[in-house]
Amino acid sequence: MGYRTVTDIFSQISGVYDRFLSLATLGRIHSWQRDLVKDMGKGGNWLDVGTGTGEVLLKLGEDYEGLKVGLDPAEGMVFSAKVKCAKCGFVMAVAEDLPFKEGTFSRISLSLVFRHLQDQSRFLREAGRVLKDEGVLGIIDIGRFRGTGAVLLLMRTVLRPLGTLVFGREKWEFFIRSVEESYTVGEVVSLLEKNGFRVLKVRRRMLGTVFIITARKTAL
Ligand SMILES: C[S@@+](CC[C@H](N)C(=O)[O-])C[C@H]1O[C@@H](n2cnc3c(N)ncnc32)[C@H](O)[C@@H]1O
Repeated sequence: MGYRTVTDIFSQISGVYDRFLSLATLGRIHSWQRDLVKDMGKGGNWLDVGTGTGEVLLKLGEDYEGLKVGLDPAEGMVFSAKVKCAKCGFVMAVAEDLPFKEGTFSRISLSLVFRHLQDQSRFLREAGRVLKDEGVLGIIDIGRFRGTGAVLLLMRTVLRPLGTLVFGREKWEFFIRSVEESYTVGEVVSLLEKNGFRVLKVRRRMLGTVFIITARKTAL
């Protein structure tokens, strides 16, 4: 699936996205994002890639001192995020081609975005370029593990009526495919290490289906 299709899908579902995500994660998404922010530590300019409706940036708090920037190619998502976070800046662009100068950010986060990217290695090189030395990258995502078959079964059965009702059949199939194509924690760690990052911490949530990984930029 190309950039255009993925972007269109997320733009079209932006109005119902927050409610669906809360339901699908039993409200846990907020505590995962707070854990991510805690593990990454605050300070400096913060870039949230694939920001969606801006929830990670909101978790930084009103009084955050650095710049809070959300990046997403989906117009509908950016529109919703702007409404929620007046003190954040937003840029419509893709992760694989970050429109920022070298060393602009101290922290880069991605919540539920990594597996949707077109080219993960290219993004990691871009993240290394726009991060300051010793900058921190944090990733939350659904990982592939032994129980992924069970998650897929749930998506194809119990969750299917809700998913199809909220998003439509074609989009629900897209979400099922994105779980099928997700990475194991080991694969993400190996990609990070190959692209100039040292892993600091790995947490698992929701019976191991969700991972939270933080890593520091190192000299290549
Ligand atoms: C599942 S949503 C996650 C939104 C938000 N981060 C959250 O945790 O709720 C995935 C987001 O990634 C964005 N996205 C998809 N492909 C992207 C890419 N190549 N570069 C940047 N963002 C992308 C989508 O537009 C969408 O807003």
